[in-house]
Amino acid sequence: MKLEGKGAIVTGAGSGFGAGIARRFAAEGAQVVCADINAEAARAMADEIGGIACTVDVGDGESVNAMASAALSALGAVDILVNNAGITHLPGLMEDISEEEFDRVLRVNAKSVYLTARALVPGMKAQGSGAILNIASTAGVSPRPRLNWYNASKGWMITATKAMAVELAPFGVRVNALNPVAGETPLLKSFMGEDTPEVRAKFLATIPLGRFSTPQDMGNAACFLCSEEASMITGVAMEVDGGRCI
Ligand SMILES: NC(=O)c1ccc[n+]([C@@H]2O[C@H](COP(=O)([O-])OP(=O)(O)OC[C@H]3O[C@@H](n4cnc5c(N)ncnc54)[C@H](O)[C@@H]3O)[C@@H](O)[C@H]2O)c1
Repeated sequence: MKLEGKGAIVTGAGSGFGAGIARRFAAEGAQVVCADINAEAARAMADEIGGIACTVDVGDGESVNAMASAALSALGAVDILVNNAGITHLPGLMEDISEEEFDRVLRVNAKSVYLTARALVPGMKAQGSGAILNIASTAGVSPRPRLNWYNASKGWMITATKAMAVELAPFGVRVNALNPVAGETPLLKSFMGEDTPEVRAKFLATIPLGRFSTPQDMGNAACFLCSEEASMITGVAMEVDGGRCI
């Protein structure tokens, strides 16, 4: 029970990596607010793990403030925040991605980190502790072509992680990131453009350990980085990538 007594918010908990992280956190004793724009998915995950469902749009300031208030009254204190909700544009030449798509991706992948920090960092500073985990991507370190603005949003997230870590360290708040490689979630199809054995083989060929990542892999890594075992670790963006970034 590595997270016994901890209160956590996981955004995008209704699917994929967020669901894997929420499940693992609950199994380790945390009370988890399962936050997602998909109300039904948030409810289903909360019911499954005995957590608290919350509907949120992480790109909207008022919605994020409401999530923070709901979490504070349900949990008492927010010890862990996982900024996991994220989206991509479909693969395309950088100049062909529409302005609307660009704004949509940056709003969910980048602005959300600012909005959750604005809502929750003051409380963490006041309690003198906290762990924030941003789910970035290998795309921010070793970008693939045709996902340009998604890649850049994840690079932004990695820099934000380091900047937040150095500013919040004096307050006992740690900030880290995970860089997952392509994973078995509903989002994978969007990265690949089309889900065919040929495209899958092309992606797998770049992963030395020879498999896609899983929600369990992210749950394991997130649990470590948000637990006391990682109390000396801040500002890292840890690859969970089967060696893809070597
Ligand atoms: N799957 C991969 O291959 C992969 C690889 C690297 C990084 N990532 C990152 O991991 C994170 C999770 O991705 P996933 O693969 O589990 O995706 P997913 O699509 O399975 O799940 C994302 C969840 O976020 C929710 N969401 C989307 N927009 C939201 C918003 N505005 N407000 C609140 N919730 C919102 C969705 O409803 C969904 O439940 C993302 O940040 C993604 O960029 C994924």
